Amino acid sequence: MSSKQYSQNTPNASKNAMMSPVFIQRYVENKAEVRAELQQGLLAKVATTSPKYLYDALGSRLFEAITELPEYYPTRVEASIFEQFLPEIAAAVGHGDILIDLGAGNCEKAARMFEALGPAKYVAVDISVDFLKQALTTLQRQSPDLPMLGLGMDFSASLELPVEVGTGSRSFFYPGSSIGNFTPTEALLFLRQIHTACKQGAGQGGLLIGVDLVKSSTVLQAAYADALGVTAAFNRNMLLHINQLLGSDFNIAQWQHRALFNTDLSRIEMHLDATEDLTVRWEGGERKFVKNEGIHTENSYKYTVASFTKLLENAGFQAVKPWQDANQQFCVFWAKA
Ligand code: AVI
Repeated sequence: MSSKQYSQNTPNASKNAMMSPVFIQRYVENKAEVRAELQQGLLAKVATTSPKYLYDALGSRLFEAITELPEYYPTRVEASIFEQFLPEIAAAVGHGDILIDLGAGNCEKAARMFEALGPAKYVAVDISVDFLKQALTTLQRQSPDLPMLGLGMDFSASLELPVEVGTGSRSFFYPGSSIGNFTPTEALLFLRQIHTACKQGAGQGGLLIGVDLVKSSTVLQAAYADALGVTAAFNRNMLLHINQLLGSDFNIAQWQHRALFNTDLSRIEMHLDATEDLTVRWEGGERKFVKNEGIHTENSYKYTVASFTKLLENAGFQAVKPWQDANQQFCVFWAKA
C-alpha cells in the first residue's frame, strides 16, 4: 500500500531543538468499496450499516458531546479508574515501552499517563493523520523530548505496523470500550492481532484496555437514549453521511432513534426506525421500508470481568489484571502478551 510520510523537523535542526511528530498516512479511502459495502448492508434482509459511518466530522463532535452527558457514564467512570489506580496501573505496565494508542483522536487519555509511564515513544493511530495533527503538535510542545508518530491507518482491518513504530517493547492502549463495537468473534481476532503485534516488539509488552460491564438494562438504555436526544442526533446524522457517500436520499425527518439492551447477546443495539412506509433511492438501487422497519446501526457489547478475561486469554494474553470503579460499572484491564 502506498503511504505518505512527513515530519516537521528541518534537516539541519540543532541538537537541542524540540522534536517534531512524524506522520504517516497509510489508509486511502476507496469510494467504490464504500458504496458497495453500504449498498450490500442496506439491501440485507435486516438493513444494517457499519458503526464506522457514524463518524463524519459532525458525528465525531456529537460523540464528544455524548461523552459529557449525565447518562453516558463510560467515559467518566473510566477516567476515574485511571485517576484512582494510575500508580498501580503504571507499575503493572512498566516504564519505557513504545505506547501505541489505537483510535487516539485528541490523544488526551494517553497524554494523562505520560508522566507515570515514561514511554520511549508515543504512537497515535487513527484513520486519518488529519485528526492527529493538532493534538500531536500541541502534545509535542508539552513533552519536547518524547518521539511521537502519528499513523493514519484502519487498524480494525489490519494491524500491520510500519517499521517507524520501532522495535522496543510495545504497550497497546485501547480505552473507551471501543472493543464493544466489535462482535465477540471479531473482538477475539482483533485481540489476537494485538497480541501478535506485541510479540513483534523486543520486550514482552501487553494491552491496556477499557471495557464497559454488564449492568441494569435501565442504566444501559439511558446511556444510549439520553433525554437531550444527543445520541439520537448522532445516530440519525449517519443517514446524512450515507447520503454523501452513496448519493442516497434519506430524509432524516422520517427516521427515529431506538436503543435497547439485548440481554441474550449482552449488547446494546442502536436502530433507526422508519416512521412511515418509504423508499430510499440511490444511483443503481433502492430499498423500501415499511413503517417501524429498522436499520441496525450499532452494537455495543458489554462484558463481565470474567468473560473479558477469558477473551483476553483466548487471544494469547496472560496474567490479566483488572481495575474497577466502586460501583463495578467499568473495568480497565492490563494483559501481558
Ligand atoms: C465508541 N463506542 C465505544 C461508543 C459506545 O458506547 O459503544 C459509541 C456510542 N454509541 C452511542 N453512544 C456511544
